[in-house]
Amino acid sequence: MKSKMRSIAFINQKGGVGKTTSTANVGACLATLGKKVLLIDLDPQANLSIHFGINVQGKDSSIYEIMCGKKAVSDVLIKSSLPNLDIIPSDIDLASAEVELVNTVGRETIVKFYLEGMLEDYDYVLIDCPPSLGLLTLNALTVANEIFIPLQTEFFALQGVSKLIQTFDVIKKRLNGKLEITGIIPCMHDSRTKLGQAVLDKIKEYFSDKVFSTTIRKNIKLSESTSHGVPVTEYAPDSNGAQDYVALTKEIMSMKRKK
Ligand SMILES: Nc1ncnc2c1ncn2[C@@H]1O[C@H](COP(=O)(O)OP(=O)(O)O)[C@@H](O)[C@H]1O
Ligand SMILES: [Mg+2]
Repeated sequence: MKSKMRSIAFINQKGGVGKTTSTANVGACLATLGKKVLLIDLDPQANLSIHFGINVQGKDSSIYEIMCGKKAVSDVLIKSSLPNLDIIPSDIDLASAEVELVNTVGRETIVKFYLEGMLEDYDYVLIDCPPSLGLLTLNALTVANEIFIPLQTEFFALQGVSKLIQTFDVIKKRLNGKLEITGIIPCMHDSRTKLGQAVLDKIKEYFSDKVFSTTIRKNIKLSESTSHGVPVTEYAPDSNGAQDYVALTKEIMSMKRKK
């Protein structure tokens, strides 16, 4: 029996906290475990696309063209080298979307408008967001039913989180009643430092049972794998990074869902 699709936005308006690394590697693990996965790159930096060795720079074939109504989703969608894993890539043109769409009616739901209908073909739709709470992230939050927040277990981890939750509240009230924050991913964790452990405790105090039991440890293989254009499970299957993302993915798959 085909399970119902889950759509998850990885958001945090801070950069460098592990959004893209988590989207890419959870996506790859889900696909390896037999799930049909769609990854949507909504960051003009296109790091998620690059993670899978995809570069559509200058080809006029990214999520931006879909949002402008210039291309059909099927013309932009790319099958990755992993079976079961498709990607809608991004490129730097997307950076101008915010300004260009400022007078467009329904601009917060434009991605949803063009993608609806094809999302149900997948078991999981994962959306990588840019480091802001602007129009692109709002679009992600109208497509997704769930939010995962990656947090780096460093001193300023919770700074800005209340603003993020305010944004979530407004979107839930006005645009997407189904939206829930369902998972907090502690990233780049260094368990050897007292600070790392103290911040992790604070995160658990703040978000209680929403925090995944798996913490993603600091692991150089995670950044190395990006430059090779492959997920860490392929680049260094025995590394801590690979083990942590496999464990996290299994936890995600076993989450009980509210009706
Ligand atoms: N657990 C980790 N250990 C070591 N480096 C990591 C880890 N997670 C991410 N990185 C690296 O940190 C940088 C920022 O991560 P990234 O996922 O791109 O963050 P974001 O998408 O939130 O900006 C990247 O260079 C990435 O390779
Ligand atoms: Mg990123």
